[in-house]
Amino acid sequence: MNKREIKSFLIDYNSPAELDEKYQELIQKAKEAAQKAYAPYSKFKVGAAVLLENNEIIQGNNQENAAYPSGLCAERVAIFYANSKYPNVPIKAIAVTANTDDGFIKEPIPPCGSCLQVMLESEVRYENSIQVILYGENKITKADSIKQFLPVNFNKDMLK
Ligand code: THU
Repeated sequence: MNKREIKSFLIDYNSPAELDEKYQELIQKAKEAAQKAYAPYSKFKVGAAVLLENNEIIQGNNQENAAYPSGLCAERVAIFYANSKYPNVPIKAIAVTANTDDGFIKEPIPPCGSCLQVMLESEVRYENSIQVILYGENKITKADSIKQFLPVNFNKDMLK
């Protein structure tokens, strides 16, 4: 028997001012996207902003549906659009936040498992790490790779 310890690192900041200017802009774009979300059922409006290697920012937000499972999370809307528009451009970073009837969330929310899996695919596909910036009004959490959230993950190597 061998018990394996798996370590993961996340960095917390108190304010966007502590981050690089480009990431401050990315947070702003995620906030802007959240306000345009279509979330009449959950009233949880999520916004994502993807920074590409070509420096373009692509925004996305959750799109809900009366048939609940037909909706899609903000992160995947943004990533799939970015990948369809620029199939050869890696993703450098993604910022995510959410807006509710009480305003922007106070604590950051981690992306759901399906979104993490899609982000992981992008890291593997382009062989680059994605910076993840999770914005809450009281705290901003940053990770330097999706592997910080999914240290044990299913990827193309398992299909060999
Ligand atoms: N949602 C996202 O857009 N991203 C996530 O990572 C978690 C959840 C959306 C899905 C649904 O429209 C609403 O938030 C409530 O779950």
